[in-house]
Amino acid sequence: MTSTASWANSAVLTERARVTIPGGVNSNIRLAAPPVFFERGRGARLLDVDGNDYVDYLLGQGPNFLGHATEAVTEAVTAAVGRGMVYGAQSPLEVEAAERIVAALGWAEMVRLSMTGTEAVQAALRLARAATGRHRFVRFEGHYHGWLDNVLVAAGGGAPGSLGQLASHLTDSVLVPWNDADALADALNAHGDTIAAVIMEPVMINTGSMEPVDGYLARVRQLCDEHGIVLIFDEVISGFRIAPGGAAQRYGVAPDLATYGKAMAGGWPVAALAGRAELMSRFGTGEVNHSGTFNGSVMAAAAVIATLDILAADPPYERISEHGAALKAGLVDLGERHGVPLRTQGLPMAFHASFGSPEPVTDYRSLQRLDLASYSEFAAMLARYGVWVARRGIWYVSAAHGERELTDTLERVDRALSDPAVRSAVPALSAA
Ligand SMILES: Cc1ncc(COP(=O)(O)O)c(C=O)c1O
Repeated sequence: MTSTASWANSAVLTERARVTIPGGVNSNIRLAAPPVFFERGRGARLLDVDGNDYVDYLLGQGPNFLGHATEAVTEAVTAAVGRGMVYGAQSPLEVEAAERIVAALGWAEMVRLSMTGTEAVQAALRLARAATGRHRFVRFEGHYHGWLDNVLVAAGGGAPGSLGQLASHLTDSVLVPWNDADALADALNAHGDTIAAVIMEPVMINTGSMEPVDGYLARVRQLCDEHGIVLIFDEVISGFRIAPGGAAQRYGVAPDLATYGKAMAGGWPVAALAGRAELMSRFGTGEVNHSGTFNGSVMAAAAVIATLDILAADPPYERISEHGAALKAGLVDLGERHGVPLRTQGLPMAFHASFGSPEPVTDYRSLQRLDLASYSEFAAMLARYGVWVARRGIWYVSAAHGERELTDTLERVDRALSDPAVRSAVPALSAA
């Protein structure tokens, strides 16, 4: 693509969609996305209905970790659904999928499948309440755990994130700054005997792609043990992406329960709750309810098996890391050449880009020092140049991104930064 994209067909579809679909989208996060309709995704590329191609670093908000339409996954799912999709009973595929997940994670003994990360989180919280007989949980500033009433908050804080949300449900949680073990210790000393669970993204990819500071997760583990609290890692983004065993493997700290989704099933809608048998077995006795018509469907289980087989047979982690590292460095270099304070941080497979000082940010509060608003505008403008990224700064790299995607992306960002219209919307280096 040499000129900027024209979206004539997308514009027609956008108008049409808004008549029968509120906002023209089926998930509110997409209200902020450029109004583009896609014809297809293949590998690391997207093709829209106007014939424009994009290098995709959004990956459908993360699930397309292997790239779009990975043949082996599509073939496995197609073959499996030819024998039916949901039985209201078990298929052998579920057992295989559970065994694959438990083997990949290393620390977990049992697993339940569900459709979405949101549901897996709710199952984890319910199980923790059942096991401890306590009702509250600790959560952290800037962490996202789905869109339901007891976890959705406005922009990192403690206020409800939506009209119609029952604000009273948020009183069940205690909000604490992340990456600050003393702050957690204080909160647990004050409220420990009412706290069932501590839930966190063990690496805060959703907001700024921040890693835990040295020793933080180990201290969190220790504090939870001291207070008899269930430690839940929400690995819906990090699971199977930053290592086969996610953050628990990478940082060497095992939670009691963990939620997974996104990278686990080659784009198929599957999530999981995994954990220690002592806790998880309470679902099996029927004491704790976890249900869902489509949980562990034939297609879900087949997709998990095929995806985890690929990840085991040809682990893409090193390739993805190299691509992400080169991309991070290339973006920073382009910023310098154009006099723009473009900065990146975080793990290369899911890093964060923004405008501001290159100094690392380590929590939600320090993230606010960055110029997130201008970056959001810039990210939206990149779509016109054929780079599809999230406005909130996250860049997801897949196993399908290669040399050509790297070259194309840097060339496209270079062209965007050379455009006076884009330049007038982004800060200059001196403003950082
Ligand atoms: C860390 C985390 N937890 C939970 C969820 C909710 O998952 P889902 O959108 O599948 O309901 C998300 C979604 O982005 C997430 O990033």
